[in-house]
Amino acid sequence: MKETLLHIQSEAREKVATVQSSAELEVLRRAYLGRSGVLPQILRSMGKLPAEERPVIGKLANETKELIEQLLAQRAADLGAREQEAQLAAERIDVTLPGRGGSIGKKHPLTLVTEEICEIFTGLGFEVVEGPEVETEWHNFIALNIPPDHPARDEQDTFYFSDDLLLRTHTSPVQIRTMESRQPPVRIIVPGRVYRRDPFDATHSPIFHQVEGLLVDEDTTFADLKGTLTAFAQKMFGAGVRTRFRPSYFPFTEPSAEVDISCIFCNGDGCGVCKQSGWIEILGSGMVHPNVLRNVGYDPEQVQGFAFGMGIDRIAILKYQVNDIRLFFENDLRFVRQFE
Ligand code: PHE
Repeated sequence: MKETLLHIQSEAREKVATVQSSAELEVLRRAYLGRSGVLPQILRSMGKLPAEERPVIGKLANETKELIEQLLAQRAADLGAREQEAQLAAERIDVTLPGRGGSIGKKHPLTLVTEEICEIFTGLGFEVVEGPEVETEWHNFIALNIPPDHPARDEQDTFYFSDDLLLRTHTSPVQIRTMESRQPPVRIIVPGRVYRRDPFDATHSPIFHQVEGLLVDEDTTFADLKGTLTAFAQKMFGAGVRTRFRPSYFPFTEPSAEVDISCIFCNGDGCGVCKQSGWIEILGSGMVHPNVLRNVGYDPEQVQGFAFGMGIDRIAILKYQVNDIRLFFENDLRFVRQFE
């Protein structure tokens, strides 16, 4: 029995030392110490030994068990450390490799044009203001001197939610909201989405974009309107651009003018873009109607103002030579990525 135990000890030393993984080590542990392993079997058979041998062999058996436990624990620790090192090496990340490079988005052409317009006007002392797209009849029409039966309403075929609530047909209601909440002087520029019951085709969209401008102060004249809009046109389209103010009509301005610029493609000589006229219309404008000033509680004898509104989509179409307004709304990345 003594020899058997000593043999088990030397054999265990050898086997444990050669094991190469925690899994193999576990197999060994079961073989020696598991319920039907070698040592428990020996310990169980102790009772059959002669009484005088029992303490000696018992002690040796227990020592053998402890030794094997120790061997296994030591080896487990070594293997564990080795395996962790191997795993760390396998999972190592080379932080010095170049990055994968994010894809950086581009601004939508309508955003680019809006930003450019707003930047020019902020440079002239205007403040950017926004307003709601769902409007009241008062702000979108009545306060702007457009009563319910006014023919101008036919031109701005409107989406209604109720008798009083609608999708704004222009950015002009923000003129009213601003003047109702502040005292002159007012100098604002208002970019935003507007809605009309128009077909969706190459030149129309039921959603489009405008920038409104409004200046109200003492002693404001039509000369201020002309000077401001000419300065804008030259900053936006080039220093050599000429402007032309054509008499027009809007219920909320009097007098009113449509503003053309000399064609930026043919310099006014006449081409396909300007339909041989040499001029391109860019906006509507006029002196704020006294009724509008009165509607917001201003005194037209004290203050006057000018206002203008331009279609952003139209200007983007011109600037980028886009032949179909629908491209602005389809979000095809191949289109959107072309603009800087
Ligand atoms: N609101 C007008 C339109 O949508 C544009 C405009 C604004 C004209 C301000 C004059 C003054 O057509």
